[in-house]
Amino acid sequence: MDPSDEGDKELCQAFECGSGRAVGDVRRWITKWLWAASPADQGETILFIDRANGALAGFGTWMHRQVQIPTAGSAELVIMIEWIGVATAYQGQRTSGWSIPRTILETLEARAREHPDSTADMVLIAEVDVDNRRAQDVWEHFGFRFFEVVDIGPRRYNRLIRSASE
Ligand SMILES: CC(C)(COP(=O)(O)OP(=O)(O)OC[C@H]1O[C@@H](n2cnc3c(N)ncnc32)[C@H](O)[C@@H]1OP(=O)(O)O)[C@@H](O)C(=O)NCCC(=O)NCCS
Repeated sequence: MDPSDEGDKELCQAFECGSGRAVGDVRRWITKWLWAASPADQGETILFIDRANGALAGFGTWMHRQVQIPTAGSAELVIMIEWIGVATAYQGQRTSGWSIPRTILETLEARAREHPDSTADMVLIAEVDVDNRRAQDVWEHFGFRFFEVVDIGPRRYNRLIRSASE
């Protein structure tokens, strides 16, 4: 996805992934915040398009961040899975046998590991709003484990970690 592309912007601005404040933040990211963020805060967003009709089925955003992880003495560079969203009409569906969020996560991780600043053993971190139980269950199903709560602005997030080998 190209943050300077008006076509991508129009597609993203129509994205819907459900109701509730925590879920609303995922929509706000892809419809508004991403487009207003400085390039350093945008990360890389990958769009998943339904080839049958051109609709935006889902998206994922990753970026490198310095995070204090439980096994390290000081902050380390990690692959942060910043946001994942599946459009309401596509939630629970499968593509080639895989759930859409699994496809998004695998694609983000592969893409992140290609980056020259990444290493093969760099951990993955996800931050899930403390009120977003469904997303936390899905992350845990994908092998992530809770390790701390963080406050970012007015929001409170559970931080989850997954090693490269899982
Ligand atoms: C959270 C979200 C990405 C999940 O996508 P989804 O299409 O609804 O997820 P699925 O029902 O296909 O489930 C994905 C996987 O988790 C598993 N799963 C679903 N609910 C689960 C639960 N309560 N407990 C354990 N595993 C669960 C599914 O079996 C599936 O596993 P698989 O990949 O091994 O087949 C989607 O609901 C969404 O976009 N929600 C709104 C935005 C959001 O909360 N984003 C995440 C925070 S950034």
